[in-house]
Amino acid sequence: MLNNIITIAPGLVWNIDQAPHALVSGVTGGGKSRFLLYLLLELYKRGQIRVIDPKRSDLYQVTKRLLPETHVATTPGQVGRLLRETHDELMARYERMDAFGQPGVTYRDLGLQPLTVIFDEYAAYIADIEDDKKLLKEAKKYIRRIILLGRQAGCFIIIAMQKPSAEVLSTDIRDQLSMRAILGQMDSTGYTMVFGSQPGMRYEYRPAGSGYLYVPGQGYSIPQTFDAPWIDDVSTIEELLWKVKQQKNLN
Ligand SMILES: Nc1ncnc2c1ncn2[C@@H]1O[C@H](COP(=O)(O)OP(=O)(O)OP(=O)(O)O)[C@@H](O)[C@H]1O
Ligand SMILES: [Mg+2]
Repeated sequence: MLNNIITIAPGLVWNIDQAPHALVSGVTGGGKSRFLLYLLLELYKRGQIRVIDPKRSDLYQVTKRLLPETHVATTPGQVGRLLRETHDELMARYERMDAFGQPGVTYRDLGLQPLTVIFDEYAAYIADIEDDKKLLKEAKKYIRRIILLGRQAGCFIIIAMQKPSAEVLSTDIRDQLSMRAILGQMDSTGYTMVFGSQPGMRYEYRPAGSGYLYVPGQGYSIPQTFDAPWIDDVSTIEELLWKVKQQKNLN
């Protein structure tokens, strides 16, 4: 079985167990969705994925036939349900870990695989449900719980949005997203929102498909420049996903 260390670029890795959850930001056209496609493929090789794509763009297109209907959400109702069901799975995993009766037990000890929710266009979703206070409250509650309790149970979330302002993504949630990436150009307030204040740091212009990345615990203390894996054609990811699925069915 593959371990949970995903290579992002030469010399840059992301261990999802050590640095759970992620935030992917950047201006429109910066390359967020392409980068998410790469992460999606790597996470599908290693476990289960759930996809939220309110704009029905790349993520939705490559997974709509591959995954069960309830694992891909685009409308507010579907998103609410997907988050609730992921939360239920998280709770079920905790019950099994409790029953295991050993302190410090993790999902790995139970032979379970990581389950990752990949949430593109988070801000668009929040704007869509702004007037539905109940749905908004519920969605935020589930996301918060997945983030706070997910590591041990192997339930993770990747949130992508153009600019993670505190009004849209509360800071208590943002702070728990360990891996951070910015794709393409960003202004200085955006860099600070994602990476915190980095005195002396000078961010350079980054074209689409490249940017800055920070993963805690990797021996560097400032965001690193990186080039996202190149994905010229989205359909190549779809083909690779189907191959992984076939392989999974054989096992
Ligand atoms: N890793 C990549 N490999 C190849 N092309 C890329 C990559 N990243 C970005 N591009 C190019 O930039 C375009 C925009 O990328 P992408 O759709 O991922 O941006 P985005 O940040 O999701 O934008 P939006 O906020 O509008 O959804 C792509 O259509 C592609 O042409
Ligand atoms: Mg996009």
